Amino acid sequence: MESESSASTVRGSTVYLTRKFPEPVSRILEPLFEIALNHSDSPVGRDELLSHIERADGLLCTLNDQIDREALDIAQKLKIISTYSVGYDHIDVENATARGIYVTNTPDVLTDATADLTFALMLALSRRIVEGHNLVFNREWDMPWFPSFMLGNDLSKKTLGIVGFGRIGRAVAKRARGFGMKIRYHNSVKVSKAVEVEHDATYSPLETLLMESDFVSIHLPLTDKTRKLISYEMIRLMKQSAYLINTSRGMIVDESGLADALRREEIAGAALDVFVTEPLAETSPLLEVNNILLTPHLGSATVGTRYRMGEMAASDIRNVLLGIEPVSLVNSGVRRRPI
Ligand code: DGY
Repeated sequence: MESESSASTVRGSTVYLTRKFPEPVSRILEPLFEIALNHSDSPVGRDELLSHIERADGLLCTLNDQIDREALDIAQKLKIISTYSVGYDHIDVENATARGIYVTNTPDVLTDATADLTFALMLALSRRIVEGHNLVFNREWDMPWFPSFMLGNDLSKKTLGIVGFGRIGRAVAKRARGFGMKIRYHNSVKVSKAVEVEHDATYSPLETLLMESDFVSIHLPLTDKTRKLISYEMIRLMKQSAYLINTSRGMIVDESGLADALRREEIAGAALDVFVTEPLAETSPLLEVNNILLTPHLGSATVGTRYRMGEMAASDIRNVLLGIEPVSLVNSGVRRRPI
């Protein structure tokens, strides 16, 4: 559905919003551009998405909108794809770059929220919080306190292996230090000595990190190199007492391999916020195991974070369509399409 056009729109530029976004998005964009938007929280059908992309100058999309070669082929005048996410694996960035289309994302503003959720999952797993809640809530708590009741595991003095030591990985390390954990990290490139010292973190090859950590937390972008990186063979390297946490992208972990490892009790447990298919299919093997904690992609889901993501994503559309460099450019080699 099209909004009414404003008298002061910038050369009739149209921005397509693939979802209902928080308030800053319309505040920033509506005074300047024609807005076409999907008023719903659900994605539009592929044909509708493509027909909007065909006519749009700017696109504000989510991680569930596939902006692939087919979508870019159809785009007549698209100048910017701004994704309301830090991850941009749903966008064919190379192709966009070749066509002079800017791609922007929303890093930084969601770092703390995602690191907080990672910690919430680690604590909930190791201290059996959901299990405890269910017991009380289902009126099954039928014994007074006794010494061996529902014992979990400490975080303090345990080793946390962080796979992917970018912004979110480091924010997790910062929290882990407060909990008295020892920090190992693995990253495609070893970080500087100064960053290692700041986070009291030691570099490990991936296999060593998996073998020696009590908690392994994944903070990688999804790329051809990281897809299914955490395979069944990799998971089997982990200690039987260790926990796996993933708040990055589902495709990085082999879900059926993980389900097998959990069913055979080859690791102690796993907490996942992200999945290969979202929402998770009812037939997923992950729903067949007990030692697992599942949340529905909540990493950045706080009111403040989503508000700031909106400000950032919309501001970069405004910038590009006004001829200003965006703040959070993914494809730094892009050469601007004429406005
Ligand atoms: C992202 O930003 O990539 C998250 O997965 C959703 O906020």
